[in-house]
Amino acid sequence: YLELSLGSFWQRVIVEKEVESTNKLMKELGNSLPDKSVLIASRQWGGIGRLGRSWSSPEGGLWFSLLLKPQLPMEELPLITLTMAAAMWEGLYNHLGIEVKIKWPNDIIWDGKKLAGILTGVKGDMDKVDYLIVGIGINVNNPIHPELKGIGLSLKDVVKKEVNLNYLLIEILNCIQKYYQLFLTDKREDILIINKEQSTLLGKRIIISSFKGKEEGFAKDIGNDGSLIIEDDNKQIRKVFSGDVSLKEW
Ligand code: BTN
Repeated sequence: YLELSLGSFWQRVIVEKEVESTNKLMKELGNSLPDKSVLIASRQWGGIGRLGRSWSSPEGGLWFSLLLKPQLPMEELPLITLTMAAAMWEGLYNHLGIEVKIKWPNDIIWDGKKLAGILTGVKGDMDKVDYLIVGIGINVNNPIHPELKGIGLSLKDVVKKEVNLNYLLIEILNCIQKYYQLFLTDKREDILIINKEQSTLLGKRIIISSFKGKEEGFAKDIGNDGSLIIEDDNKQIRKVFSGDVSLKEW
């Protein structure tokens, strides 16, 4: 039989066959579910990615959202995504022995291709966060959408075998529990170290596309506030908090 041990940290785990988007549903349920709830779906017909993109979510992948209700000022929000990225890094290492890369702020990368993504949404105002929805999508055994070949990758193609979704989920949830507790207790060194050491961007020339347009720069560091610190061509140091970052090809 299958024994799954989640401990007492996660208060509610909801499993659905098919939903539009676990992030969307979790946002609706946010007031009625307890802190530290998990919502998982076998597939999503309207999965959401960052920057208004859609997220292909066929059967075989791990698509889930977390509901978190921390006492948190809005400016700490960028660190949540880095906390999750660190947890994913460790979960994949523990479970499959692979060392993935992290593309700030939210992509989990293998061989230049995207294995997983994190989408953090928030309800609240500038002073206080009411609740957070952290959506995590991992390509595990699912096929990659034809339009995303060359961009996306599934774990089964990395480890050359099917991966048990339940065991992987438990490992990742345990790691999220660990890193989220480190985050909440202000022990954030490891979170930052993992994000820096495994970064695909640091030390490279990058292009940042945001609503302000495209900018080029050199990725120098990740700040304690979760920002990406860049040096632009006038040697000015600037902080970037979001946007789409790509490596500049030579
Ligand atoms: C990204 O653009 O990289 C973020 C992708 C996040 C996808 C996950 S899948 C589970 C959750 N529900 C959604 O609709 N999106 C997130």
